[in-house]
Amino acid sequence: MTNPVSLRLSTFVAGTEGPWKIQEIRSLRGESLASAKKLSTGPAGSPAPALPAIWTLEGVTSNERYTTRQEKDELVAIQPELGRPESTCAALIPIRKNASWWAMTQDERHQIFAEKSHHTAIGMKYLPAVARKLYHCRDLAQPQPYDFITWFEFAPSESDSFDRLLAELRSQPEWSFVERETEIRLTRCAA
Ligand code: HEM
Repeated sequence: MTNPVSLRLSTFVAGTEGPWKIQEIRSLRGESLASAKKLSTGPAGSPAPALPAIWTLEGVTSNERYTTRQEKDELVAIQPELGRPESTCAALIPIRKNASWWAMTQDERHQIFAEKSHHTAIGMKYLPAVARKLYHCRDLAQPQPYDFITWFEFAPSESDSFDRLLAELRSQPEWSFVERETEIRLTRCAA
């Protein structure tokens, strides 16, 4: 097997140590997460977890479900890598969708995600200012509190623009299926 789950697993540990300072944790829907000072992220087991952990989230990178070939080519051409030095702001937004979403078939979900909500088209307007990564949580061995973990990095000058992106996406039909959403805003600690 070339790509086992263990190699695609990433961990987000909130505690007292880590390269990201947590500025704010707020719940958009459902139960929030406990407040913490710092966050460390990385492949499972590395970096060393920020002990004592106040909470830990885990997710795996996976294949795309909704992206067309044309969108993929466009994304590959413009989406930036994480870790740009000027991207000192980040957002960690774990999301859980409701039972109605998961009861639908893939073509029904695609219709809401793409044709009715224009998720990718909206998101692309904010590239390359925002770097992003999506993790899936549903198929891990242990039950997880969210279905997805989303991670974004951008420069401080792009904060207002990122807020507009959030408002635009959250006003779409796709978001009526979101039953838990927590927004964690962070800034990178000085080296
Ligand atoms: C920065 C601009 C963004 C772009 C270009 C973008 C693009 C995409 C794309 C292409 C997918 C589909 C992946 C697939 O084919 O499976 C996706 C999925 C997703 N995105 Fe975004 N996105 C952006 C911003 C956001 C934001 C700000 C949020 C959260 C507030 C978000 C939450 C999600 C979630 C939860 C999924 C998984 C949906 C599902 O599988 O049901 N995205 N995004």
